[in-house]
Amino acid sequence: MRVSRRKFLRTAAVSSAVISLHGGAQNMLGAPPGPADSSTQAQLAADPLRPQFHLLPARNWMNDPNGPIYWKGHYHMFFQYNPNAAVWGDMHWAHAVGPDMIHWKHLPVALAPTPGGYDSDGCFSGSAVDDQGLATILYTGVKTVPPQQGTLRDGTHNFLEVQCLATCTDDELCSWQKLTTPVLFPPKEPDLTGFRDPCLCREGNTWYMGIGSGIRGEGGGVLLYRSKDLRRWDYLHPLAMGKGNGKQTNDPVDAGEMWECPDFFALGKKHLLLYSTERKVYWEAGEFDPKELVFHSQKRGLLDHGAFYAPKSQVDAKGRRILWGWIPETRPEAEFSAAGWAGCMSLPHVLTLAEDGALQISVLPEIAELRKSGMSLSGRETGEAVRWDGLRKMELAEASAELELQFQAKTFHLKLTDGAQDVFSLGFDVRQSGHELQIGEASVNLPSQAPEPHQVRVFLDASVVECFVDEQLAWTTRTYRAPRGKLHVEIPAAELDAVESLRVWPLRPISPDRLTT
Ligand code: FRU
Repeated sequence: MRVSRRKFLRTAAVSSAVISLHGGAQNMLGAPPGPADSSTQAQLAADPLRPQFHLLPARNWMNDPNGPIYWKGHYHMFFQYNPNAAVWGDMHWAHAVGPDMIHWKHLPVALAPTPGGYDSDGCFSGSAVDDQGLATILYTGVKTVPPQQGTLRDGTHNFLEVQCLATCTDDELCSWQKLTTPVLFPPKEPDLTGFRDPCLCREGNTWYMGIGSGIRGEGGGVLLYRSKDLRRWDYLHPLAMGKGNGKQTNDPVDAGEMWECPDFFALGKKHLLLYSTERKVYWEAGEFDPKELVFHSQKRGLLDHGAFYAPKSQVDAKGRRILWGWIPETRPEAEFSAAGWAGCMSLPHVLTLAEDGALQISVLPEIAELRKSGMSLSGRETGEAVRWDGLRKMELAEASAELELQFQAKTFHLKLTDGAQDVFSLGFDVRQSGHELQIGEASVNLPSQAPEPHQVRVFLDASVVECFVDEQLAWTTRTYRAPRGKLHVEIPAAELDAVESLRVWPLRPISPDRLTT
């Protein structure tokens, strides 16, 4: 948890996180997570590193998407939120609503820890479902217990994790009533590495619930439960189990012995299982045997090659499988804590399966509605001089844009520069086999099956970069360089030949300031 996050973020500062977990005034349930005072608000609104077309709270820390649901004509998004600081701790469910999965308005916090309750130390991740017309959330409640009773033991915390239920009867999904007793306690297994983040699916009249878990010294897994009413659950068996990486770590997540945030659903003719462990997200596609209730995994891969964690999916109004992920900070905690905000939601990804069972990932096509008028590089037939001139004219007023590039597998380097510094760079280097695609200092292997020309779509939003390659590879990175003037697209003249086409669109912000309010 906190320790592991810090490792993930490669930062230190134990004391500030401890303070944030236990200190600070409780957020009043019902108060929207808005800026506290106008100077903080002004500072956040003016922060050039804050995204403008990604969802994020007006201030403070956020992590996992929780219970995204299309309800009575609106999209509701909940997410892990610390109302008191820009570091992890004191988890609440923040709430936002919107018409289209692109534009959002913040609503009051949906779930807050109940003092003395089973969730007194946090309302952790979970799911929201339509239970015959009743909006219902299942989430993990945590509270501090003596060491031998804890299921979450990461070297810092000793939490008991239980599954809790809340329902809501208003159409806006604003006032949630919790059951006072959890609907499910963890199995009495001393080597359990965790018991959290319920995902739900329904087959006919039966509900199935997968819970992120694992066995110490063995590996992470998902425990499968069954219920008729979401309240009384029977344990079936593990839906999936993996092998740990053998590392000796305080936090079993780092050893791959605890899988967080499982998600399991039908996709095309197969089933897809997602889980987060070792700071990465994996997908497994396979067959779900409806009689034995066993998942036979056939293909596996990494969902994203960068800063993307704990994703959660939903079905949208058009029946598409939409995936949301948490984009964490990759800068030191001292920096994001001082900035007053941390983390944002990914853009909505559309998931499909290719003929060969591989996962295909693209961005919700409706994002194109944010495009302002575009600029494009003419084709090779127009000659080098004309293309060169076209490139020179590509200019962005700020770091808020979509780039669509088609290229042959030849060396090129593209950068967005303000003249003094590069805000973003994308390169392809044939000499770096296995690491040929580069963003900044990081590199990945191009999907092997993809035909040429390759296609890269980049969404640059202040410090956030979401990149999709050949609709097969997703790669989220962060760039903490605020432009000090207009941005120009540069590609060395000798490398322009690799580029089949390039289109650039400035993108409109989704709110008048950077507060998404
Ligand atoms: C994943 C996670 C979940 C947990 C939540 C707590 O990032 O650790 O397992 O429910 O975050 O904020």
